[in-house]
Amino acid sequence: MRRRQLIKSTSMAALALIAQRARFVAANDVGLKDHFKDDFLVGTMLSNEILTEPDAKHQAIVTKDFNAITAENCMKWEGIQPSKGDFTWELADKFIEYGVANQINIVGHVLVWHSQTPDYVFNNWLGKPRSAKSLGEMMQKHIHALAGRYAGKIWAWDVVNEAVTDDGKWRESPWFKILGEDFIRLAFNTAREVDDKALLVYNDYNMHLPKKRDFIAAFTRYFKTSGMPIDAIGMQGHVGLDFPDFKELERSIIAYGKTGLKVHFTELDIDVLPAAWDYIGAEISTEFEYSDKLNPYVDGLPKDIEQKLTDRYREFFTLCLKHRDIIERVSLWGVHDGENWKNGFPVKGRTNYPLLFDRKLEPKPAYYELFKL
Ligand code: G3I
Repeated sequence: MRRRQLIKSTSMAALALIAQRARFVAANDVGLKDHFKDDFLVGTMLSNEILTEPDAKHQAIVTKDFNAITAENCMKWEGIQPSKGDFTWELADKFIEYGVANQINIVGHVLVWHSQTPDYVFNNWLGKPRSAKSLGEMMQKHIHALAGRYAGKIWAWDVVNEAVTDDGKWRESPWFKILGEDFIRLAFNTAREVDDKALLVYNDYNMHLPKKRDFIAAFTRYFKTSGMPIDAIGMQGHVGLDFPDFKELERSIIAYGKTGLKVHFTELDIDVLPAAWDYIGAEISTEFEYSDKLNPYVDGLPKDIEQKLTDRYREFFTLCLKHRDIIERVSLWGVHDGENWKNGFPVKGRTNYPLLFDRKLEPKPAYYELFKL
C-alpha cells in the first residue's frame, strides 16, 4: 500500500504523526524526487549560465532533488537557429549530455513559440510575411533538425508555447496569422513524425483564468479527438503569494484532466515581490519601471514573508498531491533564487525569492516544508 493511502486509510492519528516525522527527519538524505516518487516527477530548469559554467553544488542539488530538467533558453529558436539554416548546438548538446549522464528525464523547450523567434522565420528577404507554405516548411525543417537531433533522448517536448490569449482566443501571432490554427496541428504532427516516444506538451501561462481554461480544454480535446498527437497540457505556474486563487487553479487542473491528457506544471515559481499593476502573466514583452518601493527585500526576506512563501509552497504541493492522478510532473523554474527570471521581470534589477534554494544554494524553509507532506 502506498504511503499516503496508508495514512488516509487508518484512523490512528499517531501512525500518521510517526510517518510524518520520519519523512521530515529523512529530508536531509532523501531528495524531493524521492519524496514524491509515487506522486509525480519533480523537475527544474537549467539556464544557459549553468550549462556554460557548471557548478558542483548546483549539480549535486539537481541530481539529488530532481528527476526532470527543462532547457530554460538553450533550445529556443533564436539560440538554436539564429539565422536561416545556421544551427548552434553547443549549449543544447551540453544540456542533453547533462540529462543523459545523470539519467534525468529531459524536457525540450520549445519547438514553436511566437517569442524569441527571429524575424526571418516569419518574413521573407523583402521583409514581407511568408506564405503559409513557406512558413509551414520553415517550421517543419526546424522541428526535424532540433527534435530529430535529440530523438530517443527527450522525455517530453514543449511543442507549442502560449498560443492562447488570457481572454480565451487564439493569439494573433505570426504563426496564427499566416497558418491559422493549423500551425498547432502541424507542429504536433511534425514532432511526432520525428520523435515517436517523447510526450508532446502544449504549454501556457495564466492557466487558471476561466476563459483561457475553457478555450484550452476545448481545443486540446478537439484536436486530440481529431487525431493530433498530444499527451499533456503544461501549466507554467508562475504564481505569487496572493495570486492566483488556488481554487481557480484547481478548477483548471480538473478541467484539463477531463480532456484525458496529463497535466504538467512546467515552470513553477512563487513571486514574493509587490505587484504595482494587475499584470500577473508571463508575457515577456511587458516591462515596468524600477522603483525602490517595488524592490523592498534587497537585504533579505523578512521572516513573515518567508513564512508566507513556505505556506504557499505547502498549499501548492498539497493541491498537486490531491490531483496526483492527473499531474505527471511539477517542475520549478530554476534551482535557486539567484537564477530565476523574476529578478528581472517585469521590473529589471529586483531581488526576488521565488524558489526552494537561496542564493547560496542552501535549502529554504519551504524546501523542508515539502517533506512534511
Ligand atoms: O542571449 C542574450 C545574451 O547574449 C546577453 O548577454 C544577455 C544580456 O541580457 O541577454 C541574453 O538573452 C536573454 C536570455 O534570456 C538568455 O539569458 C534575454 O535577454 C532574456 O529576455 C531571456 O529571458 C528568458 C525569457 O524566457 C525569454 O526567452 C528567461 O531567461 C527565461 O526564464 C524565460 O522563460 C520563459 C519560458 O521560456 C516560457 N514561459 C515563460 C518563461 C518566463 O518568461
